[in-house]
Amino acid sequence: MTKLAIIGGTGLTQLADLKIIKSDSIDTPYGLPSANFITGELNNTPVVFLARHGNPHKLAPHKINYRANVWGLKQLGVEHIIAIAAVGGITPQMMPAHIAIPDQIIDYSYDRKHTYFDDDKQPVTHIDFTYPYSQNLRSSLIKAAANSAINISPIATYGCTQGPRLETAAEIKRMERDGCDVVGMTGMPEAALARELNIDYAAIAVIANWAAGKVEGEITMAEIERNLHVGMSNTAELLKALLAS
Ligand code: HPA
Repeated sequence: MTKLAIIGGTGLTQLADLKIIKSDSIDTPYGLPSANFITGELNNTPVVFLARHGNPHKLAPHKINYRANVWGLKQLGVEHIIAIAAVGGITPQMMPAHIAIPDQIIDYSYDRKHTYFDDDKQPVTHIDFTYPYSQNLRSSLIKAAANSAINISPIATYGCTQGPRLETAAEIKRMERDGCDVVGMTGMPEAALARELNIDYAAIAVIANWAAGKVEGEITMAEIERNLHVGMSNTAELLKALLAS
């Protein structure tokens, strides 16, 4: 696999086993990315790492400059992105600390700079987005999980909400009726921007909590942190298995 990038989300601000080679600050026509791009080696494979929320974690999902982030990766020659994202679990198999490799997206976010084709001087461009994630990259992740006996769900529909608040119970009921399995706040427009720049993109969704109204009581940050701790350590194993394959 050539030029792989990992975008780390909540719970993954740094890649513990990355041997860091350099750190680039890149200014883009769209402004500043979330953080420096860290180039290093993971399992002897070159990887670029970006902390989506900044390092330390400071940017809320709606404040992230997704265009600058993906543009910066393209400038570094990245051809494949694996995006790690914390999500809430909606359908029964999406229990806390579990991992899903989504195959579809429903976008409920709004008011985000969501395209590079934003300028009246360029021809109107409509990218194909029937299958929003790279099938090749998804297959590689699913195989790597099987080889390393990491339990994952190989398909899931990711619903992207605006945040930063969590959803109401009724919103989650509606999302379930729509066909969403997991809910997160950062999957879009990141996936579409990668497609616009012709970069292969797949996601590892790490379930941090049951989505609103799925169990009694409120969703707490303590619960999210506890589940992400387990889910992110499996994610790190999955990434190593992917690079070993
Ligand atoms: N909803 C939206 N985003 C999330 C959640 C959630 O329940 N948990 C982690 N990210």
